[in-house]
Amino acid sequence: MAVRTVLRMGEPLLLQPALPITAFNTPELHALIADMQDTMQSMDGAGIAAPQIGVSLQVVIFGQKEVDGRSNPRYPDAEEVPYTVLINPVLTPVGSAMEEGWEGCLSVPGMRGIVPRYERLQYTGFDTYGNTIDRLVSGFHARVVQHECDHLIGVLYPMRIKNLKDFGFTDVLFPNQDIQDD
Ligand code: NI
Repeated sequence: MAVRTVLRMGEPLLLQPALPITAFNTPELHALIADMQDTMQSMDGAGIAAPQIGVSLQVVIFGQKEVDGRSNPRYPDAEEVPYTVLINPVLTPVGSAMEEGWEGCLSVPGMRGIVPRYERLQYTGFDTYGNTIDRLVSGFHARVVQHECDHLIGVLYPMRIKNLKDFGFTDVLFPNQDIQDD
């Protein structure tokens, strides 16, 4: 389909709560997901949410397609997360354990910050066809889901950073690593 412009932090739409999808398996939904996928792949993102391309609906995609066969250059050490289209998600933390980890965002290019996230969570929602998704996940998978679903409630990761000393430019924070500048 098409690589779309990713809205950057400061854009009011990124701070709005997104509306739920009411009709599945429609041409419009397939077109939206195709555009999100093309945009995420072109920027080597670990995930993307519909509001990031200016569509305020509860749709996120994340993970790597298996045909890809290579790790994400933005997150080379990240554990494998299956490619997932998740619609109208509901997140439920399992336990209260939090884990801190570095995050970046296509809407905050060139920067990274340390964000606390629930270590384990259950997420439910629907795929493109309206089939139920229900998973229990942890670690990086749980982090990615929390980050992407935050976009659906108007939250960007810098708003979750506990100490702003843990926020900076990627090439300054990691000078010897070849981490793509988003
Ligand atoms: Ni993001």
